[in-house]
Amino acid sequence: MHKRFSNSILSAKQFNKNNLLEILDVSEKIERTLKKQKEIPLLKEYILATLFFEPSTRTRLSFEAAMHRLGGKVITSVGMQFSSLAKGETLFDTLKMVEAYADICAIRHPVEGASVLAAENISIPVINAGDGAGEHPTQALLDLYTINKHKSLIEKKLKIAFIGDIRYGRTIHSLIHLLKHFECELTFISPSEISLPEKYKNELNSHSISFLENENLNKAKGADVLYVTRIQEERFTDRKIYEKFKDAYIIDKDFVFKSCPKAIVMHPLPRLNEVSTNLDDTPNAVYFDQAKNGLYTRMALILKLLNINIE
Ligand code: CP
Repeated sequence: MHKRFSNSILSAKQFNKNNLLEILDVSEKIERTLKKQKEIPLLKEYILATLFFEPSTRTRLSFEAAMHRLGGKVITSVGMQFSSLAKGETLFDTLKMVEAYADICAIRHPVEGASVLAAENISIPVINAGDGAGEHPTQALLDLYTINKHKSLIEKKLKIAFIGDIRYGRTIHSLIHLLKHFECELTFISPSEISLPEKYKNELNSHSISFLENENLNKAKGADVLYVTRIQEERFTDRKIYEKFKDAYIIDKDFVFKSCPKAIVMHPLPRLNEVSTNLDDTPNAVYFDQAKNGLYTRMALILKLLNINIE
């Protein structure tokens, strides 16, 4: 990890392959342990602060569940309107309070780089739980764990197709930074107006990862992994463009069974129409397991940042 932020998780860029394999290994150990017992009480004296200034279900609840399953405590501030930010307090002053009350914090904020600002100004570990259209590194780690759990990242060169809003989909941006450490072939399927930003193409090129961009869903044929994302309504300044693309791709049982019957279907959730509910009870659908894996990976990350080892 980058030395300056070695006690924070701000971007998926900060991980190397060894860090990733270690996180996968500890997460797997935690998943196995939680099948036998309810808690791994290693953090009885610690407090996690969750600061969520954008909506969330999975990320906040899984961080909080992770801390509880580790025997720790949680304090939370949800929605700017319910914090003193609404009275004009600066983010800097808010963060100084968090530093005073907690040992570690997870922050979701609409502004790209907000978690970097936090890490620069407070001494406790900061976890980026999503910053605008920027990154969502802990989602990428749980995505990597899910891919490895269902389709080994090591045994074969996986074909991974990303479908949907590739421009604003921060989970895809973060996952690209992790996948560049593994052998894989990537296909990005989206309307050209919401295609992969140039900086991520440069990143893939600099690591010699082959990738294809196309608007046609049929390019996902034969994929091992379909990673579908919602068109991110909240990131569009022009509503007409959102309306044009919102139902651009619908992945259903018929498509998966015909085009890639062995593929796992992932989605960071929440979903709208892009993944049909008729997939939910098929073995291909792993999106609910994916969300559950967030518990194990976030437990592993909290332990890592607090320098606590699990035996
Ligand atoms: N995947 C994800 O970030 O979900 P939430 O927005 O519900 O946290």
